[in-house]
Amino acid sequence: MISPIRLVLVTAFSNNLRGRAKYATQALPQLSSEKYDVKRKNFAKLQTKDVEHFKYLLGDERVLTDETDVLPFNIDWIKNCRGQSQVVLKPKTTEEVSKILTYCNDRKLAVCPQGGNTGLVGGSVPVFDEVIVNMMLMNKVISIDDISGALICEAGCILESLDNMARDHQLIMPLDLGAKGTCQIGGNVSTNAGGLRLLRYGNLHGSILGLEAVKADGTVIDCLKTLKKDNTGYHLKHLFIGSEGTLGLVTKVAIHCPVLPKAVTVGFFGVENFENILKLYRSAKSSLGEILSAFEMADYESISNTSKNLNLPNPISDYPFYVLVETHGSNEAHDEEKLTKFLTKEMESGLILDGTVSSEPKKMQTIWNLRESIAGAGLVKGYVFKYDVSIPQKFYYDLVPVLRKRMGDKAVTVCGYGHVGDGNIHINITVPEYTKEASSILEPFIFEEVAKVQGSISAEHGVGFRKPHYIHYSKDKTALQLMRDLKQLMDPNGILNPYKVLPEI
Ligand code: FAD
Ligand code: MLT
Ligand code: ZN
Repeated sequence: MISPIRLVLVTAFSNNLRGRAKYATQALPQLSSEKYDVKRKNFAKLQTKDVEHFKYLLGDERVLTDETDVLPFNIDWIKNCRGQSQVVLKPKTTEEVSKILTYCNDRKLAVCPQGGNTGLVGGSVPVFDEVIVNMMLMNKVISIDDISGALICEAGCILESLDNMARDHQLIMPLDLGAKGTCQIGGNVSTNAGGLRLLRYGNLHGSILGLEAVKADGTVIDCLKTLKKDNTGYHLKHLFIGSEGTLGLVTKVAIHCPVLPKAVTVGFFGVENFENILKLYRSAKSSLGEILSAFEMADYESISNTSKNLNLPNPISDYPFYVLVETHGSNEAHDEEKLTKFLTKEMESGLILDGTVSSEPKKMQTIWNLRESIAGAGLVKGYVFKYDVSIPQKFYYDLVPVLRKRMGDKAVTVCGYGHVGDGNIHINITVPEYTKEASSILEPFIFEEVAKVQGSISAEHGVGFRKPHYIHYSKDKTALQLMRDLKQLMDPNGILNPYKVLPEI
């Protein structure tokens, strides 16, 4: 029996009011070096003279050495990793970054570049005593071009602040993610962050017009162009997009901002099974065409746990699966008509069991908040093993029931959700506490299964510290060798983010 859709079409202009990244459990994680049995590489150890030199470069205030001040910079958002750094540096200019790196390279001190520290693969925190270079004070917007949409800013600008500023110019940032209130554009670039609107606006390899970065030896590489077209030789900016702080420190970014959509609508639907989600996706693409800006899915476990654990309302009742559809358009009446037709059709076909549609900012915020909060919901109940894989859409959800069976009662929950339009599923497995046994049930099994269907072991979060030893499931030997050659060329002493991305030979 098909239940009626609660069709709430209240028109409004887009206004991004969604939530900020939430920090969940406060427990102190085990040291990464012990938990994952890592050996320290032969870098120099921080000495008093080094701290004195950093203070000479930055002043006392921007060099943190007190253990309690440094601790939060040593722990990642998901509390899987803990480093042992003794110093956090907060440069304010590219010149300062250059001087810090020149010094560290000469002294062979290892460095961990850090943005908003919302990364989910342990890349943003040190493993041992790496010097943390946090970019938070490089937060100036340099220019916004209302005509071309080119925004130039420093790497430490918070994504949400940039989006708010872009909106004042009738523009938006081309990327959006649950961590927007904390993550920095430099971190987004360095992880090639995907997020909730990639379906519509593409990934950062398309949106980043240019950037400035500092190499390990302190050389400033100026590729800060705002041109859409520039075929003058090698496209060097792409080396820094997604290299997770291993090839250089991104200091400035030029990004193309799309026009602020005049009409935004969000729909949240209950769906019977995953097969129907795929049918609905095809139908949404053909019915909504160019206005479709997001097509997200979540299973019952994802939504009910998020709703319960974080006390967030679910605007519809319980269903095996949920779909969130968003449209960004320029003509309210036109978009509304398109969406209404789509809903009516799919309600009749039975693909949508129940749902709610709204263009009212508060209601859209409630729906997005529920979706974006899935990331942190499991942390309330224990330790979360988090996977972020690309899988051909026809196999998209297959791993979730397999993992539920494999984990049995060892898992509190196994939930699947993600950017179905991009073939990117997130699987969160919550266990009461971390154990090597649980870890060995999951890994490398998951990566083997992903490789069998020619998927990727990391769709958007990156390789970081947690996955270098599994990278071969997604990268050919020759490609890996070229990565090593590039690393050797750009950072011969290996000081930038060691123990990350590239596996030990
Ligand atoms: P950090 O976490 O500080 O760093 C990430 C990596 O980039 C590290 O390897 C670090 O060394 C490096 N780095 C940071 N800044 C620089 C710099 N200036 N120069 C060189 N290297 C640098 N990711 C997605 O792709 N899509 C999502 O939808 C998404 N949603 C999220 C939702 C939540 C609630 C959370 C907590 C995380 C989410 N993430 C998502 C993961 C994360 O990759 C992004 O939040 C973000 O891109 C990281 O930015 P950051 O400034 O926090 O970087
Ligand atoms: C998301 O899509 O919500 C983010 O990538 C974070 C997560 O994996 O939970
Ligand atoms: Zn995601």
